[in-house]
Amino acid sequence: MTIQHPSWLDHAIFYQIYPQSFYDTNGDGIGDLKGIIQKLPYLKGVGFNAIWISPFFASTFFDAGYDVCDYKKVAPRYGTNQDAYALFKAAHKLGMKVILDFVPGHTSIYHPWFKASCLDKKNPYTDRYIWSDRIMPPDPETHWVSGISERTGSYMVNFFSIQPALNYGFAEVQHPWEQRPTDPGPQSTIKDMIDVLLFWLSQGADGFRCDCAATLVKRDSDKKETAKVWQKMIGACKEKYPDCVFISEWSNAKQSLSGGFDIDFVLAGDTGYPLCRGENPYFRFDAATKEFDSWWANRSSDFAFADQKGKFVSFTSGNHDVNRIRASLSEEEIRYYYLFLLTVKNVPFFYYGDEIGMNDETGIPSIEGAYGRQVARSPMQWDESKTAGFSSSHKTYIKIPSIAERKGISVVAESSKKDSLLNYVKGLIAFKNLHPALDNDAVMKFHPVKDAMPLVYERSKGNEKLLVAFNLGHEPKRIALHGYQGNILFSLGSAPKITDKTILLAPHSAVVVA
Ligand code: NOJ
Ligand code: CA
Repeated sequence: MTIQHPSWLDHAIFYQIYPQSFYDTNGDGIGDLKGIIQKLPYLKGVGFNAIWISPFFASTFFDAGYDVCDYKKVAPRYGTNQDAYALFKAAHKLGMKVILDFVPGHTSIYHPWFKASCLDKKNPYTDRYIWSDRIMPPDPETHWVSGISERTGSYMVNFFSIQPALNYGFAEVQHPWEQRPTDPGPQSTIKDMIDVLLFWLSQGADGFRCDCAATLVKRDSDKKETAKVWQKMIGACKEKYPDCVFISEWSNAKQSLSGGFDIDFVLAGDTGYPLCRGENPYFRFDAATKEFDSWWANRSSDFAFADQKGKFVSFTSGNHDVNRIRASLSEEEIRYYYLFLLTVKNVPFFYYGDEIGMNDETGIPSIEGAYGRQVARSPMQWDESKTAGFSSSHKTYIKIPSIAERKGISVVAESSKKDSLLNYVKGLIAFKNLHPALDNDAVMKFHPVKDAMPLVYERSKGNEKLLVAFNLGHEPKRIALHGYQGNILFSLGSAPKITDKTILLAPHSAVVVA
């Protein structure tokens, strides 16, 4: 099979940084790019070799930066463009990659493109957004806003009212104001977006996580037109920067990888079965249900598709839109999920703070459009001090939970505790790096699941072959040894009993054997 992705993805382990909450170096109470630079050695020390930074561009911050005002400028609160370039350099020096958050679907209403598109007089931005020629009545499917422009009409919104949808056209045109993806308006949007992408790549960025990637072209049920837009944008970047990487917030590998993405996120919520969060997550002891079998059967066709294309899917520990993994799983259960995350075929992503088991922080009022998502956006807990080592200021942009609430969950506290979650993550990454069969691109053979448990897969690369098995239920499970020697390389819970033909997995246990 030809390799269709940049080879650095075979060993990449990503860490997502939510910049406002990561580390503040100038004492203004909000995280900054210099803070990320300072913490790179920590990340590298744990074993992360790639970071994704949530949007750090000039913004109105009505949606935490997903409402961009200038795609080519760093928001002053985070520093300067020079800081971003220095960050790319510092990361590369450590052998790490940096991917940015690209928000192509919408801007802020304060973006100059949008301001120009509000004018009555025709101008180059008249068709940059989706405008109707009338005041739109309430519509259950689409969200329209009017009343802030001299131009007569309403603009279509993607998420919040301040996020007007950029115009990539309609796959099926039904109204006079709708354009085809090939019309000049949508084509000029694409052209300017390619310019943005090439700008950051030329400065040293290694790629992009692409926000709302599936919904660029409207009324595009099979997503074929949206995929074409991506082929164009990604194609233009890969032509000049073949090693750059594109990761989609899409959760449908068949569609997104056809658009040219290297990786598609498997996000709970979008894709059905919750693995590690919510009411009944698979990785909670004794909680796995039979629904998992059909969920996995569906997903495995996505994995097969990714394999066939020489591309990937990505599982995550969490992100800035969902509750913390620790809110759904015990610290012990989290270890099982991380074993899965680092041994199943994928490019793994960790959300900041999940390596130390930070929990949901309730009671913090919503800021920057977080609402229910606020719980997972609290400042990184570096140490046990009052400001958690996040800032030298006590006036932080967001309230820091009390020391009692944090209960010793910090980088400092966990570094000194041998069996801490942080040291477990470090050890697990080191274990993964020792075994070529656990490289992200190593072949995976998944054993069909029956009645949710056990979960068994094999990984292989070169001469190495490993079998990974989980039993998260309360009854012992016996599985065939499938010709493996039965050498236990890694285990969680009570050690399994191995005979020459079978492995007997104790309740709540997991094992990697050669
Ligand atoms: C998905 C992002 O992850 C989320 O934080 C944001 O609010 C929406 N897209 C809109 O851009
Ligand atoms: Ca700062």
